[in-house]
Amino acid sequence: MTDPLPPTRRNRASLTYKLRYAARNPDKIRGYLSRLSRDLKFRAVSRDHVAYYRAVMKSDTARDPEAAVGSRSHGRWLALGRMQFDYLLEHGLKPDDRMLEIGCGNLRAGWRFIDHLETGNYYGIDISPDILLAAQKTLVRHDLADKLPHLMLVDDLKLRFLPAGHFTVVHAHSVFSHSPLDVIDECLANVGRVLAPGGFFDFTFDRTEGAEHHVLREDFYYRTETLTRLAERHGFTARFMADWEELPHGQSKIRVTRPESPEESPAGP
Ligand SMILES: C[S@@+](CC[C@H](N)C(=O)[O-])C[C@H]1O[C@@H](n2cnc3c(N)ncnc32)[C@H](O)[C@@H]1O
Repeated sequence: MTDPLPPTRRNRASLTYKLRYAARNPDKIRGYLSRLSRDLKFRAVSRDHVAYYRAVMKSDTARDPEAAVGSRSHGRWLALGRMQFDYLLEHGLKPDDRMLEIGCGNLRAGWRFIDHLETGNYYGIDISPDILLAAQKTLVRHDLADKLPHLMLVDDLKLRFLPAGHFTVVHAHSVFSHSPLDVIDECLANVGRVLAPGGFFDFTFDRTEGAEHHVLREDFYYRTETLTRLAERHGFTARFMADWEELPHGQSKIRVTRPESPEESPAGP
C-alpha cells in the first residue's frame, strides 16, 4: 500500500495518517510508543521547549550522537555534512567568512566548515551539553584544534553574548524542523543584530503545503509563507532556495538577508 499523498501534503499528526503508517510499518509501532511515553514524561518536567528538547538530545546522544543529529549510519552522517558544506560553498562560503552555526550538533557539517574557514572564524552554538561534548570528540578526530573553533552552550536564541555586526554567514540546518514558532521568532528577532552588512542566514525547515502541524514536540512542519512572512516582519528579505530541493534531503531551505537600502525593505522605506 503506497501513501497517496506527497510528503509535503501529509499531516503526520492526524489519526488517519498514524493508523495508515502503523498498518504499513508494524515494526515501527514499538519505537513510536516509546517516543510517545518519553514525550509525555519530558513535557511534564520541562519548563519550556528548550528544556524539553535538551532532554531529548540527552537521551538520544547517550545512545548514539550521530543518530541524535538525524543520521542512521556514519556514512549518512558524512554524506549529510558534505551536502551542507558543498551547497554552502557553491552559494557563497569563503575562507575569510565569519560563521555562526546555530544548533551545530556534533559538527556533522561543522568540522568541514572549520577546516575550510580561517582560524577562529567558526562559532557553533547548541542547547545540548551532551551533543557539544560529542562535538569536541569530532574536533579531535579531525585534528582541528589549531583552527580554534568556538563551541558554546546556549539557553535561548537571544544571542546577547555575541558581537553586533560580526557574522557574515549564519547557518542552521535541521534546527527549525525541531522548533516551535516562538523559538524561530526569537531567532529571527535577534540574528539581524549579529549579522555583518551583506551577510546572510540560511536555515532549513520541514515544509508542508497543507495544515501546519507537529509530531510530539520533536518535529515541526511549516508552510513556506509562514517563515518568509516572519522573516520579513523582522526586516529581512527571504528567498526560498529552490535548488536545495534537488538534493536528496527531505527539508527545504530559506536564505534571509538584510535589504541593502530602506527602499528594498519588505516594510518599505
Ligand atoms: C537534528 S540536529 C542537527 C545538528 C547539525 N545542525 C547538523 O546538521 O548535524 C539539531 C540540533 O539543533 C540543536 N537545537 C535544537 N533547538 C535549538 C535551539 N533552540 N537553539 C540551539 N540549538 C538547538 C539540537 O540540540 C541539535 O544539536
